[in-house]
Amino acid sequence: MSCIISPSLLSADFAQLEEQIKVVEAAGATRLHVDVMDGHFVPNITFGPMIVAAIHRLATATLDVHLMIEYPHRYLEQFVQAGAHTLILHLEASRNLAPDLTAIRELGAVPGVAIKPDSDFTTLAPYLDLLDYLLIMSVQPGFGGQQFIEASLETMETAVAARQGRPYLVAVDGGVNLDTIGVVAATGVDIAVVGSGLYQAPDIAARFKELSR
Ligand code: DX5
Ligand code: ZN
Repeated sequence: MSCIISPSLLSADFAQLEEQIKVVEAAGATRLHVDVMDGHFVPNITFGPMIVAAIHRLATATLDVHLMIEYPHRYLEQFVQAGAHTLILHLEASRNLAPDLTAIRELGAVPGVAIKPDSDFTTLAPYLDLLDYLLIMSVQPGFGGQQFIEASLETMETAVAARQGRPYLVAVDGGVNLDTIGVVAATGVDIAVVGSGLYQAPDIAARFKELSR
């Protein structure tokens, strides 16, 4: 079983962003993962809509924008205007998840939800009909290059089983690399986000293909 590999630009060299996007697109990447962090929801800061708009101009792949920010509802429109295809909110950050997901859809983007490794999957039940992309975190959000949390494999299986005909995609984010891609893909998830396990490879294109097998 294999899944779609979605490169996480967090681990890319931002001084060579265009080249780092082109190399994975040429290797076959169709979805890029873009991590927005605010220093509040997570203890790290990345960038906001302005950089997402720049990435949008450089990329042809779909942009899945992972919002690790407090008060995400304040910024939905800006990120959609910046070119986000999918907007992924954290279950733990949104104050009003159902209306937020509806707002994303009304803005013309695809609504997604991310869940931290220690959150209870059952709290997602009321939202499963409202989302099109479900991101299972397999590290604590905030940084690339962390070790895969094995217990998240069960959450992935639960997320796949809970689909029951619903059209949402299940994705996994954190610690996916050559060592873990096999067990991740075996859970039946659709998408594996890979940052350091891809961009730290000596040959990024070859690594993309190896992970996609
Ligand atoms: C972590 C981010 C991930 C990160 C994954 O908070 O959401 O997308 O880039 O990086 P790796 O693949 O290195 O664990
Ligand atoms: Zn992410």
